Amino acid sequence: MSRYEDYATVSKSYDETRVPIGTDILCRCLGAAAAPLSEIRLLDAGCGTGAYSRAMLPHVGRIDAVDLNEGMLAVARAKLSGDEAAGRIAFHQGSIDALPFEDESFDAAMINQVLHHIEDGADPSFPAYAAVIAEMHRVLRPGGVLVINICTHEQLREGYWYYDLAPEAREACIRCHVPTERLLSMLNAAGFQPRAPEAPLDAVMQGEAYFDMSGPLKESWRKGDSFWALATDEQIANAEARLREMQAAGTLEAWFQERDERRRGVGQFTFFSAVKRRE
Ligand SMILES: C[S@@+](CC[C@H](N)C(=O)[O-])C[C@H]1O[C@@H](n2cnc3c(N)ncnc32)[C@H](O)[C@@H]1O
Repeated sequence: MSRYEDYATVSKSYDETRVPIGTDILCRCLGAAAAPLSEIRLLDAGCGTGAYSRAMLPHVGRIDAVDLNEGMLAVARAKLSGDEAAGRIAFHQGSIDALPFEDESFDAAMINQVLHHIEDGADPSFPAYAAVIAEMHRVLRPGGVLVINICTHEQLREGYWYYDLAPEAREACIRCHVPTERLLSMLNAAGFQPRAPEAPLDAVMQGEAYFDMSGPLKESWRKGDSFWALATDEQIANAEARLREMQAAGTLEAWFQERDERRRGVGQFTFFSAVKRRE
């Protein structure tokens, strides 16, 4: 379960403002698995509404998709009912740190934008991340590939124009995200060989919705990024007031463009991939 987001509610509008990007990078990462890409059994850990599963299904053998939230899973199931009936995907409700699968069941696993929900950042050793990585190691075959799609701290500072409207929420968000060096050392310690991380620079997670400069004034738009769940009501009200002031002064467009320029330099998230070492 997310420590701060209400996914039962979010599931109803999630797909309006979120798109799966970087699937070309994902394919490249999964191509390092021991089996041919078109034959691999892939785990989608924290599948949400199934956006990444749907994007990857044409490229892989079969997928097992796991999520803790019933609402998110229901949307994923509805989206992929034909593939479920055809036996190409199976859905499971459960937590990704205690999976209902035998040891060494998968050729590859992907965790897209999930890990920051399982930790509050209060413990600098990020024990919940370590527990999930250990579980991925258990269910992957030797030579299997783990891909973690997560924001770096730099991307949280530069990759989202509206985070400057609620700086306290951004700091809370950063605390929930493991630093890159720590993630790489956790992967190593768990028995993985990390590969070079890759960040898509040419697309944004929220699709066209990202460029809606009045988006932060709408609750449904804010539901597309759990960043807002880390802001208090007062911080959201302050963010709205600041946005309205810039609209009234005619300065919003320039303010937005300056931040979007920075976003194009760093991207919004990074794919960290690693291969399970053969003993
Ligand atoms: C931001 S969404 C990402 C969904 C999807 N992977 C995507 O990128 O579109 C985070 C998802 O992680 C799920 N989640 C959070 N903690 C979980 C856990 N311990 N086990 C399984 N799913 C979890 C939530 O229910 C939610 O669907």
